[in-house]
Amino acid sequence: MLRRLHHDQPDSFAFTPVNLEWAKKQIAKYPPGRQASAIIPLLWRAQEQEGWLTRPAIEYVADMLGMPYIRALEVATFYFMFQLQPVGSVAHVQVCGTTPCMLCGAEALIEVCRAKIAAEPHRLSDDGRFSWEEVECLGACANAPMVQIGKDFYEDLTPESFAAILDALARGEVPRPGPQNGRFSSEPAGGATTLTQLPRSHDENASVALALARGDTIARITGEGAQAHPPAPATGAPPGAQPAAPPEEAAPAEARRPEALAAPRDGRPDDLKRIRGVGPKLEEMLHGLGIFHYDQIAAWTDAEVAWVDEHLEGFRGRVSRDQWVEQARILAQGGETEFSQRFDEGGGS
Ligand code: FES
Repeated sequence: MLRRLHHDQPDSFAFTPVNLEWAKKQIAKYPPGRQASAIIPLLWRAQEQEGWLTRPAIEYVADMLGMPYIRALEVATFYFMFQLQPVGSVAHVQVCGTTPCMLCGAEALIEVCRAKIAAEPHRLSDDGRFSWEEVECLGACANAPMVQIGKDFYEDLTPESFAAILDALARGEVPRPGPQNGRFSSEPAGGATTLTQLPRSHDENASVALALARGDTIARITGEGAQAHPPAPATGAPPGAQPAAPPEEAAPAEARRPEALAAPRDGRPDDLKRIRGVGPKLEEMLHGLGIFHYDQIAAWTDAEVAWVDEHLEGFRGRVSRDQWVEQARILAQGGETEFSQRFDEGGGS
């Protein structure tokens, strides 16, 4: 596919002040003379800010990195993740068309795009609010067919459920991402056949919970916060219509921080390593977050789980994946889990 700059370009580009600070920090990660290594994150942030990668943005980033324009252009035109033409002001839909998704109905999803957005990929809808393209495997084959919209995946789609998602976006809503057929994650369609003894402590899997908590599915990233640019009201909405209220889960992340302690009660923390999935490193990180006791973890809400998951650098998603809350509830009441028993016998790992 020939990738060229769009014929219609804006006059200028500049990072928002916060994005500029962020960009400087990225550049500072590299040794002197190697600043060009920051080209991809900076181009990506420029795209996140504007929706697509304009020529002024490419040149602005090249100037920041002391690179010839042609080298920045080479990067921008090489990687398909960079959008070189305007995308829908509300959403750009990426439909996976690789074999598993194709076998499960991706072509029908593309027909929905043709009917509801534009006949051809990389074209704006008549109202300029949507665009679409077919992409290669997005790594969610077990939940085929699927699409990526903004930062999130919508999986296990049918033409009907996909059309409903587009309609919801057009109304100014942000539909709940993840499986759309009632599946929790990627367990067999007929239900889980392993790990069936583990109770499900949350309504959503960790990825969906995090997506709901962040609330930035289709937001532009200005650096001012995930909700800096919530979706615009639908075109054709009554004059004065307000953007849809962000979902409750999309409150600022800090507001969902679980209650923390300055120190363990009586100076005696619980042994959090008795929770399956918590090793010495994670226990140390939890202590750093003010979490020392089983009953603290047992009381976490879904939003608090999402906050903790987000703050476990290098271990994101572990709280949900390993069902910490369920385990902690048992341990807080003096009970034992299969893992805690093994741990106490010296067999935990
Ligand atoms: S084939 Fe579609 S996600 Fe892998």
